[in-house]
Amino acid sequence: MKLNYEKSGSQGPVLLLGHGFPFDHTMWNAQIADLSKDFIVIAPDFRGMGKSSPSGSAITSMEELADDLAELLDDLQIKKCSYCGLSMGGYVGWEFWLRHPQRLESFILCDSNAKCDTPDAAQNRLKTADRIEAENSCAFMAEIMKKNLMTNQTLASAESTDSVFSRYRKMVTENNPSGVASVARGMAQRKNFTNLLRTVQIPMLVLAGELDLLSPPEAMKELTDAIPNAQLALIPNAAHLAPMEQPESVNQAIRQFLNSIPSEQ
Ligand code: MLT
Repeated sequence: MKLNYEKSGSQGPVLLLGHGFPFDHTMWNAQIADLSKDFIVIAPDFRGMGKSSPSGSAITSMEELADDLAELLDDLQIKKCSYCGLSMGGYVGWEFWLRHPQRLESFILCDSNAKCDTPDAAQNRLKTADRIEAENSCAFMAEIMKKNLMTNQTLASAESTDSVFSRYRKMVTENNPSGVASVARGMAQRKNFTNLLRTVQIPMLVLAGELDLLSPPEAMKELTDAIPNAQLALIPNAAHLAPMEQPESVNQAIRQFLNSIPSEQ
């Protein structure tokens, strides 16, 4: 599957960015602009989202999304990268780590977790997927999800031009309904990686907004403690969409972490 992607930067180690659900690679605009000064930054749209075509199947698994990343690296003739995935991008990251370990230098898990859905959460996702298809639109999701994803401060300035909220709403409402529904079903059946955390050998950064309701600081700390080589960075005044809400702090945490890793490139 050929993915739409943005590539920026001409020197340094490679940083691959995996977006969240139901977003696209433009959620990383501030990271691409800044981190490409020191790294080669590649930000794809996962299949069926943003400008990448859907596969046409009812379910798109996290495994398939991870394999698409490996194929993209093949096409770009890149052997190894550091990977940073936000939320669903983190679920894909776990599969990438499991299926393509030789490609991964370090892993930044951003506002995410290593668990599978509870049965109730999985059921809700399947209902959401059906509704997206029935309405042939993702627009309703932007309203439903917003309080879980952004701080009150971000939401208070929602309508200003080019606000984080406006960019968020654009990504969600303009996303491809069949692609998003298919990926939602894939998330509902994703694996639980909790039992594998102690086997992670590569350097890891667990990064999250201090106000993230979906990946709260206590859970992020517990996750970090379970991984041998992991560090934790909590970002003040940010929720689930920390890279969009507090780009400077997030970029600083990512840069500091990546600079601490001896690159094999
Ligand atoms: C995301 O931001 O990717 C979603 O919150 C992931 C999820 O729904 O589990």
